[in-house]
Amino acid sequence: MSESPLTSASHKALMQEIAKRRSFAIISHPDAGKTTLTERILRAGGAIQMAGNVRAKGERRRTRSDWMGIERDRGISVVTSVMTFEYGGCIFNLLDTPGHEDFSEDTYRTLTAVDCAVMVIDAAKGIEERTRKLFEICRLRDIPIVTFINKMDREAQDCFGLLDEISASLALDTAPATWPIGRAAQFVGTYDLRTRAKHFIAAPLPDDDSRMVQLAEELELVEGALSPFDHDGFNEGHLTPVFFGSAMKEIGVTDLLDALVAYGPAPRAQPAETREVKGDEPGVTALVFKIQANMDPNHRDRIAFARVCSGRLYRGMRLKHVRSGKQFALHTPQFFFARERQLAEEAFAGDVVGIPNHGTLRIGDTLTEGEDLRFTGVPYFAPEILRRVRLDDAMKAKKLRQALVELAEEGVVQLFRPQDGLAPIVGVVGVLQLDVLQSRLKAEYGVAIGFESTPFTMARWITGQDKAIEAFSLAQRSAMADDIDGDPVFLASSAFMLRRTIDMTPDLTFHDIKQIGTQKI
Ligand code: G4P
Repeated sequence: MSESPLTSASHKALMQEIAKRRSFAIISHPDAGKTTLTERILRAGGAIQMAGNVRAKGERRRTRSDWMGIERDRGISVVTSVMTFEYGGCIFNLLDTPGHEDFSEDTYRTLTAVDCAVMVIDAAKGIEERTRKLFEICRLRDIPIVTFINKMDREAQDCFGLLDEISASLALDTAPATWPIGRAAQFVGTYDLRTRAKHFIAAPLPDDDSRMVQLAEELELVEGALSPFDHDGFNEGHLTPVFFGSAMKEIGVTDLLDALVAYGPAPRAQPAETREVKGDEPGVTALVFKIQANMDPNHRDRIAFARVCSGRLYRGMRLKHVRSGKQFALHTPQFFFARERQLAEEAFAGDVVGIPNHGTLRIGDTLTEGEDLRFTGVPYFAPEILRRVRLDDAMKAKKLRQALVELAEEGVVQLFRPQDGLAPIVGVVGVLQLDVLQSRLKAEYGVAIGFESTPFTMARWITGQDKAIEAFSLAQRSAMADDIDGDPVFLASSAFMLRRTIDMTPDLTFHDIKQIGTQKI
């Protein structure tokens, strides 16, 4: 499996490669400037070519009606792209998160693959709804957050007020890392609170310029009243360093990148069932956090996106697929750069590789060099909308079954097979997922479906002794289903019914989150 025991020189080289990795995502409310900042970051990292693709995506998103024509534009389903660039001696992987709020599960899974998130806030608007939601997802995993307050070149809220808003509304300590020099049209640069360096986009201002006088006054307050940067607090996700800037005018962008180089974090430890896996362990481990089928309509391919969690992965190596216990050969691991792909000869902890496969790999799966280890923290959330699938052409029942399984494995919807044998039920967190399911079934499988309501509004996974589950399933047959892994799920018609059932069934536990990847097949 591993090529040979690591010599101390190659061990050192491996550690250096891993320590250089910076994998992050950008989270923001629409229009806060995520696309613009991504472009500027890629440009700073010398990846201008890709920046064009990012912009193209931004424009697609603006014309919302377009992406509903899925065959024309796969913008919403082609959700994972990784943009890789070098900056300051580090290798950055910027993972693009799905664009629409309905895809919270997908977003969550993507965020399991990053070590840090950059939260972009519009300086005039402060914390907005979508930012808050994404932040909460990051908090579930204590992902370190770096804040970029964007659009300082426009009329903005007071900087102290913005810092207060972040700490009060997100319960997150703030430590300003830079301070703006000038405001709105007069915004010309930043002051680095750590190094005391001033960065101007044009010529430096003289000390008696009114903006420098304002800066000096504010710095007294900032340095006296605000907390300094605390590395542990940042790594644990309790404290965010805050940068002020303008993505559009390219002010503050390198401040942000320099901080990611300096503060990291490098690949973080990942929780697994038996132990925590450190990023700098020499043995390779990887976690499948996303499946994407039919990315290329000409080849019905299925790509599993895996984050390398430790060690070095190389093309041609064989890894253990822990769920099945079988060996899995990595013949053609790939890197995905925006829409381009390229064979990955090697990848290190923190990198994301795409692994073509025919259904062996599922979301939540772990690959190792032999250890029986299962990464945790990739969950299914209990769906809030449950619909029965109505097939228009009965001849296509078999095709529909297969298609639903494939799309459920991808995480497009959750699939429940009622134990009473009635038509399958799909569960989603956001209603838009139903539209996507319908369009993809039609476009990729040629199956037309509709949806019918069900009496159910909630789903809960149940665990307990086999006998207790059996008895419960018999008694509740019309409200029981099996999920895609064959695990039993109770479907409730209302919160009241659910509560009553839970009270009356003390020998079973009802779960609204299921950890995936940890069940046996
Ligand atoms: P998003 O991906 O978060 O949705 O935001 P995006 O970057 O697309 O930016 C939204 C709008 O805000 C864009 O304007 C963009 O140019 C503008 N913008 C982004 N960063 C800054 C900044 O630092 N300062 C100012 N003043 N504006 C900024 P638009 O008119 O919607 O699009 P476009 O015509 O510029 O492409």
